Parts: sequence; C-alpha cells; structure tokens
Amino acid sequence: MHEFKYKSDRLFCEQVNVQDLAEKYGTPLYVYSYGTLVDHYLKLKHAFRKIQPLICYSVKANSNLALLKALVDKGAGLDIVSGGELFRALKVGCPANKIVYASVGKTDAEIEEAIRRGILFFNVESVPELENINRIAKSLNKVTNVAIRINPDVEPKTHKYITTGKLTNKFGIDLKSARQILHLRKALDYVRISGLHIHIGSQITESDPYVAAIRKMVAFIKILKNCDVVIEYLNIGGGLGIIYNKETPQTAQNYAKKVLPLLKKTGLKVIMEPGRFIAGNAGILVAKVLYIKSTPKKKFVIVDGGMNDLIRPALYEAYHNIVPLKASARPLEKVDVVGPICESGDFFAKERKLPKLKEGEYIAVMSAGAYGFSMSSNYNSRRRAQEVMVDKDKVYVIRKRETFDDLIRNEVIPPKRFGF
Ligand code: LLP
Repeated sequence: MHEFKYKSDRLFCEQVNVQDLAEKYGTPLYVYSYGTLVDHYLKLKHAFRKIQPLICYSVKANSNLALLKALVDKGAGLDIVSGGELFRALKVGCPANKIVYASVGKTDAEIEEAIRRGILFFNVESVPELENINRIAKSLNKVTNVAIRINPDVEPKTHKYITTGKLTNKFGIDLKSARQILHLRKALDYVRISGLHIHIGSQITESDPYVAAIRKMVAFIKILKNCDVVIEYLNIGGGLGIIYNKETPQTAQNYAKKVLPLLKKTGLKVIMEPGRFIAGNAGILVAKVLYIKSTPKKKFVIVDGGMNDLIRPALYEAYHNIVPLKASARPLEKVDVVGPICESGDFFAKERKLPKLKEGEYIAVMSAGAYGFSMSSNYNSRRRAQEVMVDKDKVYVIRKRETFDDLIRNEVIPPKRFGF
C-alpha cells in the first residue's frame, strides 16, 4: 500500500498534487511520501511485536538524511555498509548501539571509526576481516562485538545480481569455515562473537528461502552452544520483496507467521535489515515527456529522466510501473520510455502498453523509493535530481537539485599544460 493515488484525474502524493510539485521544482524529481515510509516500518514492527526485534533500516536503499531521520525518530536502528553510511547514521542521531555494519570490504579506517563510535556490531564477512577487526580493536584497546555473517547457501529465487546467500556469492562465511572460527576465537581476544547474521538476497517474494536459511542458523546455534559460545543476537537481514508489477510478495504478517516460530525457539534477540520493504513504494520518480519519436520499427517516449537517475531497469531489467500524472481516457499504445542518455540501455520501459502520452506532460515512475536516488550518478554530466518529501499537505525539499558548479566542485585542472 502506498499514498500515491489519483484524486479525480490527478496523481496525488498524500494531499499534494504531484503535477504542482513537478511544475514548482522541475524534473526529474523524486517525490516521497512520509506516511508510506513510516507505515511500512510500523507494519513490520507490528507483525513482529511479540519478539520486539531491532529493525535496522538498510541505509543503502535510500540514504537521504530526511528519510533516515524519519525512521530513527520512530525507533529504527540502521544497517550500514561504509564509512559514509556511518557518517550519515550519526548525523541523524542514530544511537551507535543501534547500528550494524556489513560489507565484504571494510577498510582499516572504517573499522577504526566504527569501533571508536561503539556500534552494536560488525557483520563479519570473512576470516581475514575478523582477524583485522581483532587487530584494530586491540590497538584501540577496545573489545568489539561481531556477528558472523553466515552464507547459508540457499536459493532466494530473485535476480542473480541481488542473490547473496549462495556459495558462489562473495558474501558471508560458509558454515564449515564458520566452525573453524570457533577454534580460532581463543586467539582473537579483542572480538566477542555476539551474534549470527544472514542476508540471502533482495526482492525476495516468498518466505521459504528465509525459513530454509533460518533453519540452518538454528542448527548452527546448537553447535555454538556445544562449544560454549553464547551469542545474543540473530540478524536475519533484509530482502523482503515489494510489488513493482504483478508480484505477490509475502506481507509482513505472513512473513512473521512463517519465521516467528523458528526465531522464538532460538531465544535470541532478533535484528532485521529491511531496505526496499520500507522505502521502495514510498517514492516515485517524476519526469517530463520531451519528445515522442517514431521510427520505422518503434515509438519512443523520450523523457528528461534517465538511467543516471534510476538505473534499475538498465541494470536488472527491472520493471517499474509508469503512469501519467494526468489520468484521462485515451488509447493505449506500445512504446519504449527512454531517457536522454547516450546508451541504448537508457530506458525505463520497453515495449510497454501505455496510455498515449503527449509531449510536455509528466509521468511517474512508480516504486522508485529504494535503490533509485541512492544508485544515481552524474553520468553524461547530468545533475542529480531534486528530492522532496510530502507529509499530508506539507512539502519539504530534502535535497536540492545539483548545480553545474556541484558537478565540477572537486575537479582540478593542473596549472601548467600537461607534459611539462
Ligand atoms: N542487509 C544487507 C547486508 C544487504 O546487503 C542489503 C541489501 C539489505 C540488508 C537490504 O536489502 P533489502 O531489504 O533492501 O532487499 N540495488 C538492488 C538491491 C541491492 C541490495 C543490496 N543489499 C536493487 O535495486 O534491486
């Protein structure tokens, strides 16, 4: 469910006419619904209320400070993967003990800063990383909590680029190596193994893969107990799928129903890391139709937003629903909706039947709140889009459109001609 709905023939975000926003702030423009964002967080919280998990919103899905602040204010923790995300988390006042840190490639500087700040724990992705965290923690004389990220080798039935819990993926530690850590741990006196972590992939629509992965964790927890390793936390990661097209993903309630019995059995504190589930349907990308171009083979709707603004269709051939901001009775026609970028991969939709669009009108690319702006770039020297957040009838600019000066801010032309 989301708060982007037609009122008579106009698309509204909560109580605001989206076309008014497009005209006022220009396009491409990301528009978020505060109500939808918070509602999704609360839905998950409610579904799991019996075990009161720590819900650490996955910053990578959408790292805008306003979104982070909205969720942190509601009690969310944050799941981070870089020093930059740690910076953002602290900027919005997220308590350090609600921050968990994954990533296969944490640098020494990043590890050191996170230890100094006292995050809840690192999700450790390899044995060398564990040894490195121990070394750095020792140099700081600060015992540090870690959760071992287990790669449970399960098939999450999603796109191969966003599958993370198979042994062919770079993520996590296989169960055999994880057992070896138990022998190693006595030599690692500056890390305390306080949890287990899994994150098996993204846009997962069924609960079976979670159940399979969590079952493997339950078995491993028994092994830990036998080795006198007492852990406190089980982090089941993110990955919950949303509706982009015709998917029928499990609801928060159904997901809870399937995994709660297993989780309860462990008696551990549960952590979750949802990103897309919270932010995905809380945002849209609004673009303006620049030209309608017909070729002998195709009809192209050329809009002013491109793959630099929303790369998901180009990267994963992801489907995003596209609707005109003004609904009217008109014939459907099959078109490619494309951006201005000099790549044939620059499309939002291919061979899609859409209401016949006109030059100058606006469209909304739906479900763009997660992995939309956060994956955007300056490719083709395009300024990154503006972002606004709507709360009922109020509109907040949460990121200004970049300027041309922003584009070149960190570039330096050497004072002399090259070659001297
Ligand atoms: N935890 C970890 C350790 C992760 O790596 C991720 C996402 C999440 C949580 C949050 O997953 P979510 O609940 O959002 O599915 N760019 C891709 C998605 C990449 C996901 C990367 N990791 C896309 O646009 O579909």
